[in-house]
Formats: sequence, structure tokens, C-alpha cells
Amino acid sequence: MKIAFFSTQPYDRLFFERENTAGKFNYQFYETHLGPHIVRAVERVDAVCVFVNDKVNREVIAVLAEKGVRLIALRCAGFNNVDLAAAKEYGISVCRVPAYSPEAVAEHTVAMLLTLNRKTHKAYNRVREQNFSLNGLLGFNLHGRTVGVVGTGKIGKAFCRIMRGFGCRLLAFDLYQDDELVQEGLHYVPLDELYREADILSLHCPLTEDNKHMLNKQSLGRMKDGVIVLNTSRGGLIDTVAVIEALKSRKLGGLAIDVYEQEEKIFFRDLSNTVIEDDTLQRLMSFPNVLITAHQAFFTDEALGQIARTTLANVEKNLQQQVREGDPAFLL
Ligand code: NAI
Repeated sequence: MKIAFFSTQPYDRLFFERENTAGKFNYQFYETHLGPHIVRAVERVDAVCVFVNDKVNREVIAVLAEKGVRLIALRCAGFNNVDLAAAKEYGISVCRVPAYSPEAVAEHTVAMLLTLNRKTHKAYNRVREQNFSLNGLLGFNLHGRTVGVVGTGKIGKAFCRIMRGFGCRLLAFDLYQDDELVQEGLHYVPLDELYREADILSLHCPLTEDNKHMLNKQSLGRMKDGVIVLNTSRGGLIDTVAVIEALKSRKLGGLAIDVYEQEEKIFFRDLSNTVIEDDTLQRLMSFPNVLITAHQAFFTDEALGQIARTTLANVEKNLQQQVREGDPAFLL
């Protein structure tokens, strides 16, 4: 089974090679994103394997179909970057890794919250420079604070459970309620109430046409002064320009993001010797109360192993036509 991988990093190769012990799979690795610029180079492969920032639009899908590709295998959970309608039209299956390690993402979200609040990143550098002063490092107790969670699926649920351990009051908004979380003391409330009540707001829902820029001037305006916003879900959930205004007006007390709407040309690369032309990102990075990581919430040993195993199992199932109705890994 031949698979062309796009947007690959050394760790992708390592984990996928490790899972190919029986030699069933033949790999081609490309560092570049999949997009119209490269799709014509795809030759004689059964499947393409893509990640969060590959652009699998109609134009790309038409060429993949022409080249005989039978499967688009996402090695991530979110699939907002694939035109499913076009894939269906061209008869190409699409699969993903619906759950690999929700705890990995939930734990990173908490790590970002703790860093932002207790400023351990600043303390680390200060102490190394023999500056033992505490001025400017003041944080607040998480215990007793209200945490608002948008999306209580696998990651949101893991995040809720960790925050409950901190002694936080948990409110959530989702299209569906999770009864276990309700039994554990979480309250589902309308989105407006969530915005009004939360001291800390964390996004764990997928990005769809309906919720693009759900955090915008209006919704931010309804929040508490000094609210902390966490986004490890998808950059497009946030209107970054509105968020910058809210940071400037002190409405937002802090922002921690692992995802950024325009991350495609920036994240997963070493640009330390490059002039970054994205002024919005540069402005965001200039705030002392903004913490940015480059889409690393998933990045644990457990998660990468699971991603490789599930992706290869998906490819095998699809190519051997063993996909069962209702398999959550298969979108088409
Ligand atoms: P999931 O499918 O288990 O849960 C998503 C939840 O969001 C569901 O309960 C769903 O009902 C809810 N939802 C859908 N639309 C909503 C809306 N408009 N408002 C409120 N809730 C809504 O997904 P999972 O595994 O928890 O992942 C959540 C998101 O996390 C993914 O869609 C992906 O964008 C992001 N993610 C980020 C990673 C990272 O490394 N930063 C890694 C993995 C996922």
C-alpha cells in the first residue's frame, strides 16, 4: 500500500516507520504542504496522508482523483481543511484519527493556563539571570474560579475533569450534553451566560461555517473584564483583530493560543532567521499577557504513536474495503 505523506517532520517519519514493522506500507514523505502547487507530483499512490494545514480543496481533489488516489487520510482529528463535498463527488474516501489522546491536548491547555497565570516562563528566565524579584509575577488562585468550556467532546471533557481537580466551578456550552459531566457537577448554560460568567474561557469545539469567529467584538464585549481565553482548538474560532482590541482595552486579561487562523505559513517551521510579514501575529506576540505555542498540544509520545497506528489501520481498512458503517474514523 503506497502512501504519500505531506507536511512531514522528522517525528512523523519516525513514528510511521516504527509502526511499519511488517513492511506492508510503502511511504513517500514530502515536507511541503499538499496544495495546488504540488498535487501534480502525486504519482502511483493509493492514499495521501495530510495534516492540519494541508489544503485539500476541490482543485486538489480533482487532480488526486485523476491520479487514481482512493483515500485522503488525515493524521489529525479536525477536518475543516478538506472539501468533503468535492471528495464525495470524486469518489475519494476521507478518514481521520477521531481520538488519539484527548488528554494530551487537555493537559497542554492546562499547562498554558498555568504558565499564563503564574508566569513560570518569565520566572524561569529571571532566575537564570539571578533576578530573584517577584515584581510582575502576581497570579491568581484557580481554586473557586469559574471555567467556561465550549465543546465538551473528548478533549473538552478531559479538560473539565482536570479543572474540577483544581476546585473550579465548571460551566459549559455544547450542542449535546454529556451526562457523566453533569453528574460530576458541570452545568450546561446558554452561550451568552457562559460568556457572562466565565473567569476562564476555553474553546474545545471544531471549527465549522457556523462558529467561525465566534469570539468577536460582540461576544468579547459580553465577557467579564479580565477574562482569560484559551484556544487549543482551531484559530478560525477567534477574530484575532477583535482580540487584539480587547487586549489593548484590558477587557481580556490574558490569551493563550496553540492555534492561529493564519498559522498555515508559519507554524511547524523554524523562521528564526526570517522576517515575519504577518503583522497581526507580531502584534499578538508583543503583549506580555499573550502566550502562543505552535500547534503542539497534541505533541506527546502517546499521541504520535496512536496517530500512526490509527492512520495505518484506516488506510488498510479502506484499501481492503473493510470499512464498517458508522466507523467514526471515516468521514466518507
Ligand atoms: P469531539 O468531536 O470529541 O468534540 C467536539 C465537541 O464540540 C462535541 O461535543 C460537539 O458536540 C461540540 N460542538 C460542535 N460544534 C459546536 C459548537 N458550534 N458549539 C459548541 N460545541 C460544539 O472533538 P475533540 O477530539 O474533543 O476535539 C475538539 C477540537 O480540538 C477538534 O475539532 C480540533 O479542532 C481540536 N484539536 C486540536 C489539537 C491541537 O493539537 N491543538 C489536537 C486535536 C484536536
